[in-house]
Amino acid sequence: MERPAENGPRPSRRRVLLGGAAAAGVGAMTLGGGDALIRSLRAPAETVANAERVHGGRTYPFHGAHQEGVATPPQAHARFIGVDLKKDVDADGVRRLLTLLSDDASRLTRGESALADTEPELATAPSGLTVTFGFGPGLVERVDPKAVPDWLGPLPEFETDRLEERWSHGDLLLQVCSDDPLTLSHAVRMLLKDSRAFGEVRWSQEGFRRAYGTEPDGTTMRNLFGQVDGTVNPGPEDEDFDPLVWCGAESPGWLRGGTALVLRRISMDLDEWDRLDRPGREDSVGRRLDDGAPLTGGSEHDEPDLEATTPLGFPVIAEYAHIRRARSEDPDERILRRAYNYESATGEDAGLLFACYQRDPDRQFVPIQRRLDELDLLNEWITHIGSAVFALPPGCSEGGFVGQTLFEG
Ligand code: HEM
Repeated sequence: MERPAENGPRPSRRRVLLGGAAAAGVGAMTLGGGDALIRSLRAPAETVANAERVHGGRTYPFHGAHQEGVATPPQAHARFIGVDLKKDVDADGVRRLLTLLSDDASRLTRGESALADTEPELATAPSGLTVTFGFGPGLVERVDPKAVPDWLGPLPEFETDRLEERWSHGDLLLQVCSDDPLTLSHAVRMLLKDSRAFGEVRWSQEGFRRAYGTEPDGTTMRNLFGQVDGTVNPGPEDEDFDPLVWCGAESPGWLRGGTALVLRRISMDLDEWDRLDRPGREDSVGRRLDDGAPLTGGSEHDEPDLEATTPLGFPVIAEYAHIRRARSEDPDERILRRAYNYESATGEDAGLLFACYQRDPDRQFVPIQRRLDELDLLNEWITHIGSAVFALPPGCSEGGFVGQTLFEG
């Protein structure tokens, strides 16, 4: 059997030489003559080569037809921030704010520092950084009250909701995702510094998945109940992805090529879930815990057989199973799920930041959630405690800003 150390990349000749030189340098330094050598060992070329090798240099373009952060493969870390605009911010103020923030985002996502960045070194490893902007009704109204789409506002109330104001609503959404938490923290700080004169943070929610590289790309994520979560989900490679996710001719003109985000903070009672046995856990969703396959057999991506019955005549996938209730016969009633796990600092509140994207929440999220609200065994262990809906405008071109279309309409 190979020893783990031998599986890694073989040290290059340059590295071996540098290693030797470093040792010699330390010796020389103690003799008082090694400063130049030590400086040469910190050569930037070596740092860049390392960053490339470990993915820190990966970027997604900020400019384009759609904003990144929706169809983008989910990064390991996410921050969703709801900002309330100050009372005196008018349409012109909104335009200035969006211009500033788009400029920050276009630089930071390229791995460049923002203007007047006080810690420019923290911007150099974007690690797949994306910054996505969303507008609540309050922001759109300040620019053009007639431009608010019908679905942009609080969702209808559901019986099982226990919503808290501190996790709900907001005028402006900043969604910042990266595979590196330090990069993410820096990007958020830069964006909030530039937002400060215009608004105040209403809520900030931090989400996580597995660290980048822990599992092969494309592995479906697991939530804190240990379930494989995100199997049946439209992907950008699917023919019907665009009409499901991106707003089209039925939307106000400024939103075409944009999308709608429904963000629900769903608390999960991990301690109560621990008391349930494994068959009970699998029954509640209709899928196996080990590989996410349907209870009717096969592997993760096989179709569940909703007609299959046990020898006693009961459905194998129960009437109350989450996947049966979440599924619709109407192919237009689907959403793109891009959820993140969350955990409060003390661990007393943990769950899912259920982020989902669609062209019209009233016709997609709402009917699905109505069915789940009515009957879904998972409701025994989950509670929706936050809710916000945002309109995410299309992307912008170089030199433009996200939301520009709202000012042109
Ligand atoms: C904490 C809350 C939730 C948990 C733990 C959860 C968990 C899961 C799991 C384990 C699956 C099966 C694997 C998969 O296809 O992803 C699933 C499927 C699904 N969930 Fe959820 N879910 C939650 C909330 C929701 C909500 C709020 C909605 C929408 C209103 C939703 C919509 C769906 C849909 C559409 C599917 C795919 C169903 C199909 O097979 O066609 N889920 N969920």
